[in-house]
Amino acid sequence: MNYIGSKLKLSPFIKETIYSAAGKNLSQKIFCDLFAGTGIIGRVFKAEVKQIISNDIEYYSFVLNKNYIENHKEIEFKHYLDELNNLKGACGFIYQNYCLGGGRGRQYFSDDNGAKIDAIRQKIEFWRRKRIIKDSLYYFLLSSLLEAADKVANTASVYGAFLKRLKKSAQKKFVFRRSRV
Ligand SMILES: C[S@@+](CC[C@H](N)C(=O)[O-])C[C@H]1O[C@@H](n2cnc3c(N)ncnc32)[C@H](O)[C@@H]1O
Repeated sequence: MNYIGSKLKLSPFIKETIYSAAGKNLSQKIFCDLFAGTGIIGRVFKAEVKQIISNDIEYYSFVLNKNYIENHKEIEFKHYLDELNNLKGACGFIYQNYCLGGGRGRQYFSDDNGAKIDAIRQKIEFWRRKRIIKDSLYYFLLSSLLEAADKVANTASVYGAFLKRLKKSAQKKFVFRRSRV
């Protein structure tokens, strides 16, 4: 995820520092990611440690870490992804609050993309309420939606402000893709 506080670029340094303090064999260690954010640091260590504990105050991080850290089996998602990509837009929370069409003067997403994000978010929640999907798929889909929405966000990587004009990547049509593994 394109997140300004992400430690992705620092991950080789963090890894080397942890190796030098705890040794290279971490297979019996528990890795605690106290400010997990995007989950990238937990993901870097996921295959090497016995267990990962991810902590963060924000729900976005909970969602990403439920998927990237807790999910560890193959997930059948293609049919769901296709259905979500074919939805028509809906004027929901994102459209109303974060798109110009919503009338609140914000342009975090183009109108079309905001409405598409809403339709997908609503459908994922519907599937969960009706117990059509399990938690593993629910968080996989939410995490994919977060990542895909971020690709067309009209921001400079932080969501404290939006850009006055729709930047090029925000003008692109929203495509719902699977989140990276
Ligand atoms: C710089 S960011 C994330 C860094 C993360 N390692 C990454 O690479 O994505 C810091 C994170 O700390 C979380 N945070 C801030 N204050 C917190 C608190 N008091 N308790 C738990 N999490 C907190 C924020 O929600 C944010 O996701």
